[in-house]
Amino acid sequence: MYASLKSIGAYAPERILNNFHLEEMVETSDEWIEKRTGIKERRIASEDESTSDLGVKAAEQAIERAGIAKEEIDLIICATLSPDYLCMPSTACVIAGKLGIHNVMAFDISAACSGFVYMLSMAKAFIESGMKKNILLIGAEKISSLVDYTDRGTCILFGDGAGAAIIGRTEDKNEAIVDIHASADGRYGELLMTPGCGSKYPCSQETLDNKLNFIKMQGNDVYKIAVKTLTNDVIDILEKNNVQVSDVDHFIPHQANLRIIEAVRTKLEFPLEKTVLTVAKYGNTSAASIPMAMNDAYEQGRIKKGDLMLLDTFGGGFTWASALVRFGGH
Ligand code: UT7
Repeated sequence: MYASLKSIGAYAPERILNNFHLEEMVETSDEWIEKRTGIKERRIASEDESTSDLGVKAAEQAIERAGIAKEEIDLIICATLSPDYLCMPSTACVIAGKLGIHNVMAFDISAACSGFVYMLSMAKAFIESGMKKNILLIGAEKISSLVDYTDRGTCILFGDGAGAAIIGRTEDKNEAIVDIHASADGRYGELLMTPGCGSKYPCSQETLDNKLNFIKMQGNDVYKIAVKTLTNDVIDILEKNNVQVSDVDHFIPHQANLRIIEAVRTKLEFPLEKTVLTVAKYGNTSAASIPMAMNDAYEQGRIKKGDLMLLDTFGGGFTWASALVRFGGH
């Protein structure tokens, strides 16, 4: 018995924040942002939309496309760095409540932008051990709630959105998740973090005055480590599985910066037409980035049953992960 990615779904909020809007907010330019990041615009959730609302919309689409009843779901995991509530209830529990799925295990994971691939690895283990049958994974982010819109080093990058997938069982290896590598190195934590409002610097007027509740990033240091780590990690998963670049149908990288994607793609000599790019229109949506990109390719009719997808991601922690996944949906 193997684990299989049966369906994908996504949701992008309606409001668009483009580079010209940002020109009016911080000292930047459309030209600089596009040249350095490839981003043209990103979506921003409305005031009354929280992360769980975005996640519910993506989840409903994934459940419908999987052709299962919601009662068949026996585990819900949500990856997010912008949960509805800092401590509890988890966003997975909030989503379960809103979907009307009761009495099943539901929890969040914290792996920043690597969240979706981390969850995929957990879902694979739950399915292959026989513990669970149909798992709902949701990567959802309202990162705009964590962004300091006076900091041009971060506010140009991030956007809101959600992606979801159903992981089920299959006996057919040609529609199974092949392999997942997930890793972390906590020594780099301070290069990308939200320092405030946890137990280290509890929420206080001082914490808020010092803007410690917002994302802080040493962008250029993160950039250099991301390129090196991702390139090595992707080469490693391909070699370990004896997969050639030409065997891969779709390269679906984390959409943080077009230059990072291009560096990995050109090093691997991966064809552009097999690379899924959504960074221009969504920016970096962290844990939602890979499922949103996969959904885009799926809705364009590019992803077919049995196609081999290569996922790779990098984020705060630092965390990073790669996956080889055959699409098990239709
Ligand atoms: O998903 C989690 C992982 N996160 C990432 O992967 C993000 C990785 N980092 C990046 O994407 C890039 O480092 C950034 C896009 C954030 C920055 O690009 P960069 O090419 O690394 O620029 P830099 O930080 O080295 O800054 C170069 C110059 C500096 O000016 P000086 O010192 O050369 O005069 C910055 O102050 O660009 C300036 N700068 C800007 N200028 C216009 C920084 N941000 C901006 C901006 N607009 N928004």
